[in-house]
Amino acid sequence: MRPIVQSFFDPATFTVTHVVYEAPGSACAIVDPVLDFDAKSGRTRTASAQKVADFVHAQGLSVEWILETHAHADHLSAAPWLREQLGGRIAIGHDITRVQGVFKKLFNLEPEFATDGRQFDHLFADGERFRIGKLEAQALGMPGHTPACVAYQVGDAVFVGDTLFMPDVGTARCDFPGGDAHTLYRSIRRLLALPGTTRLFMCHDYPPAGREPWWETSVAEQRAANIHVHDGVSADDFVAMRTARDATLEMPNLILPSVQVNIRAGRLPPPDDNGVAYLRIPVNAL
Ligand SMILES: [Fe+2]
Repeated sequence: MRPIVQSFFDPATFTVTHVVYEAPGSACAIVDPVLDFDAKSGRTRTASAQKVADFVHAQGLSVEWILETHAHADHLSAAPWLREQLGGRIAIGHDITRVQGVFKKLFNLEPEFATDGRQFDHLFADGERFRIGKLEAQALGMPGHTPACVAYQVGDAVFVGDTLFMPDVGTARCDFPGGDAHTLYRSIRRLLALPGTTRLFMCHDYPPAGREPWWETSVAEQRAANIHVHDGVSADDFVAMRTARDATLEMPNLILPSVQVNIRAGRLPPPDDNGVAYLRIPVNAL
């Protein structure tokens, strides 16, 4: 089974959104859609998500799933807007409940904010199988970057989330709350145990100078050439590299707005009595 994958790169957040489907006119899933957010003005826009919706319409696709690989810290999710336009069910990994617990505390969210994942239409267990029309799919637990990360395998394609990046970029950071480099190494080795020809679709690309953004590679290419986890790199080597590198990284520009929206499955917080929704900035707490 070799599904068709159409990808959309967002240059503002280096995020890749994918549409995976069998053929024109078939069912599809949308993976990791982006809601544009201008932090200076606090305004959201749907230009990026509209491109995805236009593609879905042009191909005559019916959206069955809107799949999140994790609660992203670098962009807001357009999942609710796309569901409104196109239908489908919004899903994420089951351990989002842990992430909701951590951030409910950090943001001191309203007592009614539930940490049982009910904001999503479906929570996937590790290994859970599902269908996208005739395509067979499976959720693979990929903790490490966050405790709730999942990858989605659809036929010979895997949407890896924040685990591996392109071979010349390496791997995802592990220093967010609940992240763990040992755990990410184990998750990545699980991905790299798949057949060498498995197509891997990245969630991000941060191209080095001189290279255009790209997001598709294979298990064999990653095992041969990933600068952080090619074959032969031990768990201890990886953890030492990852820990040293994470200590040098700044927080993503949009981590505070992103997380508090994405743990609500992409919805804004309930509005104040003036009808305006507000995002919170914890001071000296993150
Ligand atoms: Fe992420």
